Amino acid sequence: MVNKNNYTRKDFLKTAGSTALFATLGIGFYGCGSSTDAMDGTEITPPPGGNAAIAISNNGNTITIDLTESSVSGLNAQGGWMLIRNASTLVVNVDGSTIRAFTSVCTHAGCSTNWQFSNSRFECTCHGSRFDTGGSVVRGPATRDLQEFSVNRDGDELVINK
Ligand code: FES
Repeated sequence: MVNKNNYTRKDFLKTAGSTALFATLGIGFYGCGSSTDAMDGTEITPPPGGNAAIAISNNGNTITIDLTESSVSGLNAQGGWMLIRNASTLVVNVDGSTIRAFTSVCTHAGCSTNWQFSNSRFECTCHGSRFDTGGSVVRGPATRDLQEFSVNRDGDELVINK
């Protein structure tokens, strides 16, 4: 944690460099919520200087995830989830073995980056809509379910087709 009063040019460049790297590579993670939000699971965030860009490739409508990479290996556990921002995709391990993927574009008003996950529920914090791990609405104001994407797992490789 950088003390605001001691934030140096070097600190700025370090932070800006990380952001620029991920922006350049087109890989985006979103660490929603606090530790209390992930009561039954693992919120996946890349470690500082991590290699998320190696773990995930996004080629248009196909996303490939290497589950052996430490930055995404949390998806191997029940409740592990992530938001791939540049692909507008939510990914969650629902039971320890089954991984599902959905659009992150909320069916209420289109927010796509404000997600939390706890107690087997996704919540879009824009207005509080909740969805279960099948993408079904469990609390409004959204009235339509999240679109689900197909997920194929071959060993440690996960392929999501949108
Ligand atoms: Fe998600 Fe409104 S856009 S709850």
